[in-house]
Amino acid sequence: GAFTEKQEALVNGSWEAFKANLPYHAGVFYTLILEKAPAAKGMFSFLADGVDTNNPKLKAHAEKVFELTRDAAVQLRANGEVVVANAPSLGAVHVEKGVVDAHFLVVKEALLKTIKEATGDKWNDELSNAWEAAYDALSAAIKKAMS
Ligand code: HEM
Repeated sequence: GAFTEKQEALVNGSWEAFKANLPYHAGVFYTLILEKAPAAKGMFSFLADGVDTNNPKLKAHAEKVFELTRDAAVQLRANGEVVVANAPSLGAVHVEKGVVDAHFLVVKEALLKTIKEATGDKWNDELSNAWEAAYDALSAAIKKAMS
């Protein structure tokens, strides 16, 4: 169905909760990714020495993933579709790093669990489903640019 105003508000509100403690949440996010896909350690330049939440690159990339998902929610609500800025170069970076479809599922699971932790007792299925819909639409756009 269509992405609703309420879903957009749920994503926006929890994006703020995520951003309020970015280093901590970035650490949770990458720890979850490495639990599911240990080999991803070799893919990210900034994970070579493990999850260091003081590493500005680690924080920057985590912020990007969540920020673009939040942008996707705004676009879905406004236009019913997601257009990614610099899709060709973003696609190329991921191809070059050896990212495959299965990695998008690992990252999705980590993103949803991180949002769950960030929102605490405000978390519910509706909020999680809104993030999932935005992430799926964004992933589809990036995967398309990768192919
Ligand atoms: C790099 C976003 C999914 C692995 C990047 C960059 C962005 C980005 C903005 C920086 C590109 C640049 O340097 O110009 C996203 C978004 C994703 C996503 C929005 C999902 C919706 C994934 C997945 C993987 C992945 C599933 C694999 C687990 C990487 C790696 C880099 C990268 C390894 C290079 C980082 C480095 O070492 O500097 N991504 N990404 N990304 N992404 Fe993603």
